[in-house]
Amino acid sequence: MNYNQLSMDLFFEDKTRIVRKPQNTPRVISLFSGCGGLDLGFKQSGYKIVYANDFDKDAQRVYRENLGEIDDRDILTIDNDEFPECDILIAGFPCQPFSTAGSRLGVDDERGNLYLECLRVINAKRPKVVVFENVRGILSVKNQDGSKLIDTIRESLEELNYNVEIKLLNASDYGVPQNRYRVFIVAFDSKYDKRFVFPSPMRKNESQTVGAVINIPEEVPNQVSWDLSPQSASMVPFITEGGSWKDIPYEHLPKRLKKIRDNMKKYRSPNFYRRFARHEINGTITASAQPENCGIIHPIENRRYTIREVARFQSFPDDFIFFDDTSSDIVGMYKVIGNAVPPKLAKVIADEILYQFWNHI
Ligand SMILES: C[S@@+](CC[C@H](N)C(=O)[O-])C[C@H]1O[C@@H](n2cnc3c(N)ncnc32)[C@H](O)[C@@H]1O
Repeated sequence: MNYNQLSMDLFFEDKTRIVRKPQNTPRVISLFSGCGGLDLGFKQSGYKIVYANDFDKDAQRVYRENLGEIDDRDILTIDNDEFPECDILIAGFPCQPFSTAGSRLGVDDERGNLYLECLRVINAKRPKVVVFENVRGILSVKNQDGSKLIDTIRESLEELNYNVEIKLLNASDYGVPQNRYRVFIVAFDSKYDKRFVFPSPMRKNESQTVGAVINIPEEVPNQVSWDLSPQSASMVPFITEGGSWKDIPYEHLPKRLKKIRDNMKKYRSPNFYRRFARHEINGTITASAQPENCGIIHPIENRRYTIREVARFQSFPDDFIFFDDTSSDIVGMYKVIGNAVPPKLAKVIADEILYQFWNHI
């Protein structure tokens, strides 16, 4: 389905309130759009994406198939006057330098500076609302002078006259079938004299368990998985449902993992090769999709989750289409899905902004 074709009725009702349709549909500029997880949530909430940008080919392909046009250029090459007018700017700027799994080069890494591109566009277009999403590591990344990057981002937005709210959210508290901690920054232009209040966690339910997620009808597309490496494939059968690499007998470990097993205290007892059980909520799906650092092994079959399974853990609907014709397509799909904001969480934030900002403007 092309989500551009969805009806744009902005009225919706939840248990406690009716959210009214704003006179004008809020126009969204999306930067670092990826395959469109964040954008899909805003679109489902009734916003209109007027511009999206990402320079990654896999992301562009999936975005075009499901959401519409996307500018494929490097953001650094796009002039301010090329962006359309907008009411809201949303951006999950690249997170690798901040990821706890990464090298933590932070703002010394070129990718760590890309939030400045968002500030440049905000300064030029003056959206009423700004939404940034990032990994939890961004809360502790330091600038070269020892100050915290998150404080710099807050101060920069405040200098541009925004009221800034920052919170670490767990996606599973908002209906997503995955424990995924991400930082959200929501800023309202201070001339409207409002501050965003983050929504309270919701009650978890059965549909968020691994068992519910992997129960997929045969006709749903993209049920293709990326083969495990021969080394992983030899270890995975030893791991019990709900277990981890600790189930693998010492003699079956490669040298590198033996070294860690020999001195677990020194390596702080890492929990590699986590295999979540059917009654549990899965851990974070990452872009690398490696069993060593993310819970990507099926609970009872000795394989990686399929593209559709990881898409479901990220709360993409089954009619959101991915590509799986070649092995490089397949690897690319795990990357773009793992990089995405879960659309369900994005929609919760988008609905809340619609209610708090546009219904009370
Ligand atoms: C964390 S992902 C964003 C995911 C997206 N928010 C979603 O929900 O699907 C960051 C994206 O930034 C893109 N990116 C990184 N540097 C870029 C640049 N210089 N210009 C354009 N896009 C860039 C990457 O290709 C990647 O898709």
